[in-house]
Order: sequence, then structure tokens, then C-alpha cells
Amino acid sequence: MPLPGFGGWHDDPLWASFYDWSVEHARVGGALWRLGIGSDLGLLYEAAEEIGRQPPASRVLDVPCGGGVALRGLRPDQHLTYVAADIAREMLERTMDAARERGVDGQVEVRVADVGALPFPDGDFDLVVSFTGLHCFPDPQLAVTEMVRVLRPGGVLTGSAVLNDTGIRFEPMRRVGRAANLLGPSCTGPELRSWLEGLGVTDLTLRNSGAICYFRGVRG
Ligand SMILES: C[S@@+](CC[C@H](N)C(=O)[O-])C[C@H]1O[C@@H](n2cnc3c(N)ncnc32)[C@H](O)[C@@H]1O
Repeated sequence: MPLPGFGGWHDDPLWASFYDWSVEHARVGGALWRLGIGSDLGLLYEAAEEIGRQPPASRVLDVPCGGGVALRGLRPDQHLTYVAADIAREMLERTMDAARERGVDGQVEVRVADVGALPFPDGDFDLVVSFTGLHCFPDPQLAVTEMVRVLRPGGVLTGSAVLNDTGIRFEPMRRVGRAANLLGPSCTGPELRSWLEGLGVTDLTLRNSGAICYFRGVRG
């Protein structure tokens, strides 16, 4: 039974805007991240920088894009195709607003998409980014399989998620998130590693920072 009062992604809830605000304000937001989830916000910035290293004409998929926090990695003159995908249309509108504010909207396309059945052909992207998403999905293994499928061989998958083994002290947070229907089953680090390795992903790194695990790998 979902807890009342939280609001789902389609409600464009206030706390989702607060989350985006925290990411955009390195000092205050960084302190809140450290206090609340024991995590270094700087690692999210570093991971998003991978977008800025893509050469012109690259194709990047951001799923789930949410309010567009990963756009911070995209430069105005980069000449990429940046596909921002999310199941909630309300989040795509927020991503497009963020893209306009950053002056990168000419490179951004939005798509309503379920990560469990991505509407893109195999090998369509050079980079797939997925920040704080995996723990929201009903079937994280299927999500990972889809994200790797749409990546070209040699392409990079990078992302972050609240995993089930990133600290017992975060268990109450995970339980409340599930009761509110905002978190799915998630997975452990070893599970994520074995799924990715099984899909032929190499050069895999998993790094925990408080409640969040950052992962990165290359499609073989
Ligand atoms: C915590 S937000 C993360 C968004 C963003 N990457 C960030 O770091 O702020 C989770 C997002 O997952 C989206 N979402 C949930 N289930 C989804 C699914 N099955 N397919 C695609 N997006 C989904 C929600 O709409 C929401 O925008």
C-alpha cells in the first residue's frame, strides 16, 4: 500500500524539484547530500563530465532524465544529439526547461520511454547515462539489459543508484521509499556487477559513496 502524501513522478512533486535544486547548489546541496545520504555530490558532477568529453555528432541517452540534472555535463557548442528519456512526461518538460536555461536545448530531444522497453535500435548510442534511476525501476536487471542493448560496442554506460548493500543505516530510507512506491526492488553491487559482466560489459568500476553506488563500464 503506497504511503499517502509523497506524490509520484507524474505529479511533478515538490521534493523532486528540491532534489534538482540540491544538485545545482554545490555548497548547500553538497552538505545536504553528506548529511542525508552520506554521499559526495562531487561524484555526480564528475560522472556527468563524461558527457562533455563526447566528440561532435555523438549520440547520448540520458535515462531516466528526471529534471535534467545530467545536462550540466553538456556544453552549448558540443554538437551532440542528447536524447533525454523518462516515463513521466512532466519530467521531460522539466528537462527541456533546464536545457533552455543552459542554452543546450538545440542538442536535446525528449522521448517518453519505459526503460524496460527502450524505443531505440540496438547499438544506437555512444554513451548511456543513468543517474539515480536503477533503484526506481520495477525490474533493474531488465533496465540494465536494455541500456546495454542500445549502446554501441565500445560505448560507455555510466550511472548511479541506491543499492541494497550501500549501508545498513540507509535501510529505513529504502523501506520508506518502497512504501511510498518511489523505489523498486533495486539490487546489490555484486548483482549489478554480474548482470553487467553477463552482458559483456568490461572495464567495470563500482564505487560506493554513502547510500549511492556509482557504476561505469564499456560495452565489449
Ligand atoms: C530519482 S529520478 C532520477 C532522475 C535523474 N536522472 C536525476 O538524477 O535526477 C527517477 C526518475 O525515474 C523515472 N522513472 C521511473 N520509472 C521509470 C521507467 N520504468 N522508465 C523510465 N523512467 C522511469 C521517474 O519518472 C523519475 O523521473
